[in-house]
Amino acid sequence: MSYDKHILWACTAALVTGWVLTYDNGLCSGNVTRHSCNWTCMQLTLQWPGSFCIGLNNKTICQIPQTVSNWTIHGLWPMRTGHCCDCWPVFHSHLQEIEPELIQLWPSFLKGQHYFSFWKEEWIKHGTCAGCEESMGSPVLYFQAAVKLRKLFDIESVLESVGIKTSCDVSYKPEDIRGALTPLLGTDYDLQCVTDSKGREAWMQLKIHLFRNQTLGCHKQEQEEKFNTLAWFNSPAHLCPKNTTIFYVPINYENPHEPCN
Ligand SMILES: *[C@@H]1O[C@H](CO)[C@@H](O)[C@H](O)[C@H]1NC(C)=O
Ligand SMILES: *[C@@H]1O[C@H](CO)[C@@H](O)[C@H](O)[C@H]1NC(C)=O
Ligand SMILES: *[C@@H]1O[C@H](CO)[C@@H](O)[C@H](O)[C@H]1NC(C)=O
Ligand SMILES: *[C@@H]1O[C@H](CO)[C@@H](O)[C@H](O)[C@H]1NC(C)=O
Ligand SMILES: *[C@@H]1O[C@H](CO)[C@@H](O)[C@H](O)[C@H]1NC(C)=O
Ligand SMILES: *[C@@H]1O[C@H](CO)[C@@H](O)[C@H](O)[C@H]1NC(C)=O
Repeated sequence: MSYDKHILWACTAALVTGWVLTYDNGLCSGNVTRHSCNWTCMQLTLQWPGSFCIGLNNKTICQIPQTVSNWTIHGLWPMRTGHCCDCWPVFHSHLQEIEPELIQLWPSFLKGQHYFSFWKEEWIKHGTCAGCEESMGSPVLYFQAAVKLRKLFDIESVLESVGIKTSCDVSYKPEDIRGALTPLLGTDYDLQCVTDSKGREAWMQLKIHLFRNQTLGCHKQEQEEKFNTLAWFNSPAHLCPKNTTIFYVPINYENPHEPCN
């Protein structure tokens, strides 16, 4: 299997550089390699800065940089059921050439978290599994793939074209939002919401399902349920309920935790 080569190469590289001494606890074994490469679909997860902070308990931990005004990348996640190979290091210098784009499209909203820490976490948790696929077979290729996809899916324009605008007063039926997105994304995507302090549902995330070759149309699998349990263990986000309307809240840089207060 050709994808094993990349992981094995990375593990070998880690051994050679001595990185493995700090991070490897036997995780570079063949078992983990096979497991982390055994996936069919991946999710490009985009987050809406306007509602991102609503669900966080710690009311001082979140901030939206003034430079951010569009949907940003949370991550590109192969839907596997096991852990990825955490023996494949990424260094800040690896991302130099695409850093300006990452700063704009893949920022962290946690105060005090260095952007690179966020990117590194995403690479270790998810990217090393994506790296089984040749087109994403290195840190820079993985981040480039996510950026390319984010630009391809011009969410802002399609919403605007059907008059779906951010508002604290108007809410939308889930099927109206889906109606706008389906021409762009097909039907294999999920809307995720957080519940605000008034019990309203705020649209927070968009999970777009893709094949390994980065094209649309990968259907939900049984794998997904397991994967979601793994990935969403601590998250306040849930599938937007179908029986209630959804708020697409504006970005409130001063009060991101309660954007509509
Ligand atoms: C790898 O697989 C072998 C045989 O199935 C098993 O004995 C071993 O414990 C596994 N190692 C890990 C790290 O899971
Ligand atoms: C890969 O995943 C499929 C579906 O979850 C499973 O049936 C198969 O046994 C897995 N193969 C390996 C080598 O883990
Ligand atoms: C909230 O986050 C701030 C900043 O990171 C931290 O100093 C504080 O201890 C946190 N509070 C709680 C209750 O976790
Ligand atoms: C946000 O998206 C719109 C529509 O795609 C684009 O015109 C605009 O330049 C973007 N703004 C930023 C700050 O990225
Ligand atoms: C991408 O992968 C899917 C599933 O394997 C396949 O059906 C589709 O034809 C591929 N598309 C391209 C452009 O390679
Ligand atoms: C929507 O359905 C859920 C679960 O089925 C229920 O708990 C909730 O009260 C319903 N909400 C409305 C507004 O009907």
